[in-house]
Amino acid sequence: MTTIGFIGAGKIGGTLARLAVEHGYDVVVSNSRGPETLTDLVHELGDRARAGTSQEAAAGGDLVVVTVPMGAIPSVPVAELAGKLVIDTNNYYPQRDGQIAALDAGETTVSQLLQDHLPESSVVKAFNHIMYLNLGSKGVPAGTPGRYALAVAGDDPDARKAVASFIDEIGFDVVDAGPLAEGYRFEKDHPAYGLETDVAGLTAALAEA
Ligand SMILES: NC(=O)c1ccc[n+]([C@@H]2O[C@H](COP(=O)([O-])OP(=O)(O)OC[C@H]3O[C@@H](n4cnc5c(N)ncnc54)[C@H](OP(=O)(O)O)[C@@H]3O)[C@@H](O)[C@H]2O)c1
Repeated sequence: MTTIGFIGAGKIGGTLARLAVEHGYDVVVSNSRGPETLTDLVHELGDRARAGTSQEAAAGGDLVVVTVPMGAIPSVPVAELAGKLVIDTNNYYPQRDGQIAALDAGETTVSQLLQDHLPESSVVKAFNHIMYLNLGSKGVPAGTPGRYALAVAGDDPDARKAVASFIDEIGFDVVDAGPLAEGYRFEKDHPAYGLETDVAGLTAALAEA
């Protein structure tokens, strides 16, 4: 993987794009208002970055991060993401996203909804349970005692491994939470959400959910 596409370039998308560039990746960033509104971010990110439409970010990324309010999920490009690894950072806030009956009833999880929208892609839930300021500042090299740990969930074990490897590269340990149906364990209103802890602490918090 050499290029990461971003659908959404706000607090989490912008922070992850900075980390990706710092670690040698090229990035294509996109938002809802068009590439011309991302000039400042691209300038800050430097030569490894360019802006595009959502379709261009989806088509241009070997790995694509979807990091938008949940209400925007229906507009996430489908064909351009077919066959790709997609990271889902999204959370469900009814006051922002409107009520989603299947989530309210506990019938599905946030990232299963994105997977349903992208049936030909391999969706991995990650980065949803860390505040963007911590994401930007808490990364440290592998082996550092007490290293901050992040969870991943996804239906394809190889996809989970690939995302875990990326997370490790940018500064965090990883706990594999299993398939997307287990992703609720680090959604909002569960112990792991926002928890600043290491592998042992995160493993315990996931089990407690
Ligand atoms: N903030 C955090 O600390 C944090 C932590 C973990 C997870 N999350 C979750 O991650 C997601 C993103 O959060 P955020 O804080 O980064 O949000 P944000 O700062 O509001 O940024 C959202 C981004 O999504 C873009 N966007 C909106 N609709 C779009 C569409 N239809 N197509 C393409 N791009 C679109 C926005 O573009 P425009 O500005 O042009 O509309 C903006 O770049 C949310 O689901 C949030 O709950 C947030």
